[in-house]
Amino acid sequence: MHYHQGVCRPGAHPYHLCDVPTDAEINGRIPSSTYVATIPAIHRMATYNIVLSFLSVVFAYIGFTQYRNHKRKEEENKAVAERHGCLPATRLQNQRPWGIDRLEQIFRADAESRLMELFLFHFRQTGSTLEQKFLGTKAYGTIEPANLEAIFSSNFKDFGIGPRRAITFPMFGDGIFTQEGPAWKHSRDLLRPQLQHKQYEDLEVFEEAVDDLIDLLKKETEGGGVIDLQPLFFRLTLDITTAFLFGESVRSLVTPEAAGERTFANAFNTAQQWVTKRFRLLDLYWLVNGKEFRQACDDVQTFADSLIDRNLSPKRARSEKKGKYVFLDTIAQNYSDRSALRGQIINLLAAGRDTTACLLSWTFFLLIRHPSVLQKLRDEIDSVCGTTPGLTRSVLRKMPYLQNVLNETLRLYPSLPVNTRTAIRTTVLPVGGGPDGTSPVLVPKGSALAFSVYSMHRRPDLYGMDAELFRPERWEEEMPMQKDHTKHKWGFLPFHGGPRICLGMDFALTEAGYTVVRILQEFQSIRLPEGEPVELVGVEKQQMTLVISIKDGCMVKLQ
Ligand code: HEM
Repeated sequence: MHYHQGVCRPGAHPYHLCDVPTDAEINGRIPSSTYVATIPAIHRMATYNIVLSFLSVVFAYIGFTQYRNHKRKEEENKAVAERHGCLPATRLQNQRPWGIDRLEQIFRADAESRLMELFLFHFRQTGSTLEQKFLGTKAYGTIEPANLEAIFSSNFKDFGIGPRRAITFPMFGDGIFTQEGPAWKHSRDLLRPQLQHKQYEDLEVFEEAVDDLIDLLKKETEGGGVIDLQPLFFRLTLDITTAFLFGESVRSLVTPEAAGERTFANAFNTAQQWVTKRFRLLDLYWLVNGKEFRQACDDVQTFADSLIDRNLSPKRARSEKKGKYVFLDTIAQNYSDRSALRGQIINLLAAGRDTTACLLSWTFFLLIRHPSVLQKLRDEIDSVCGTTPGLTRSVLRKMPYLQNVLNETLRLYPSLPVNTRTAIRTTVLPVGGGPDGTSPVLVPKGSALAFSVYSMHRRPDLYGMDAELFRPERWEEEMPMQKDHTKHKWGFLPFHGGPRICLGMDFALTEAGYTVVRILQEFQSIRLPEGEPVELVGVEKQQMTLVISIKDGCMVKLQ
């Protein structure tokens, strides 16, 4: 068969596929398959060659431009490094190409519930600042107070939240945690008046939820029983957060089903676990996006919608009557569309619920394993207020040992133990480079930077040789870090610092202090149940999502 020019059959196109063999084909001189390459095919090949040549030129140009830009950036970075006297930080060694082994280590340690131990081990290997290959790109890590001061405060403008927005967006939506620039500032301005201490000075906002908790504990442990406090603290902080921010509590401690708490709590935990996995892949986060994740995000959003519907109904005008600032009312006036409102709510639920629930769980976990600390705390409560009802914030402030217990718990178990930022322009960390770790370190634009306050808070050179021990008394003594102004100011950062410092710091400490005192006032005996393990601090199994909780819960024996 061949292409034929001219008409060989009546009605045939002058330029058609002809199945009448030519003489040459019959004689076998030209194989018919070769003969197919006639004029149109040659045209096609020519066009193909031109396109190919053109694309080669384009790709070569792009490649060259990228190489030139890369070289130019390298030159610029080199100049910045020279100007500041930067030296590289110690490299955390990889055993496999692309730093794949790091990811394996992280997933394995997490499956064994000891991820923080792995990070501690890394910093012990390298010193307080390190660089590493992570999925083929260079990333940095630090637990050095001077560097944290630069990240949070003096060089705040050089760092952004990086892929955090994209990673968490399906769950968090648009809100204070996922925003930057003017949108973030606007959210912060709206929230700030709500979190001024005059809004909760009388502690009334905590009272109903703590009453509910105590009633539940009494009912469940009548005559002395064992109970896991951790899930109850998650319900307590949900009730307090909803009461405080939205004007009405969901009262999940009383009716978890009606409050939708179980669905919400499960969905929230599931979604957070997925988000955590996405964080570990940084720029490759989109690889982790299963159906379970999407369903959990939908459920979280449905719960937020139910809060909006319940609390913005025309019937509800209590907040105005009491003259209190109710955040939900303010954001409803500021954001007309539902998804913006929903995003703000989910962000605040995340901020207010899990962090404080973890603090309370770890506090009791530590107290029942350190009976002398528990007794000292009871003595302080007895001397300041006994069992008199009507606690206020100023009464709590007369209990320094209580504050020390909370500080010591947050030192060993900061609710957000690791976090990241991304350099939005080439910048410099003041220390961590060179063989002795005292030279500045260059952080090129686009680099990821992780910091672990969990690891920093366990440094013996900051807290003393017994830094691994739970000892609230250290807060009354002079600690090694106090000899250096920067270390003193930036060596304890459970709430971070600088312009993005936690807005709920005082609220959370007041909430936790109030809850601890009320529980101790109510139950004369709180002990470690028989058979519960007592391990070295930090060796117990930990559950890591965005926050750090206790893998096996906080079992207590109450009387
Ligand atoms: C023990 C309890 C708490 C701890 C340890 C804690 C810790 C933190 C930390 C470390 C951040 C900084 C996150 C970052 O910049 O990446 C933060 C931010 C924030 N926290 Fe807390 N938090 C606690 C409780 C609360 C509570 C109860 C609220 C509100 C009711 C709250 C509201 C916020 C808000 C709104 C932000 C965002 C600030 C911003 O990005 O500008 N926090 N918190």
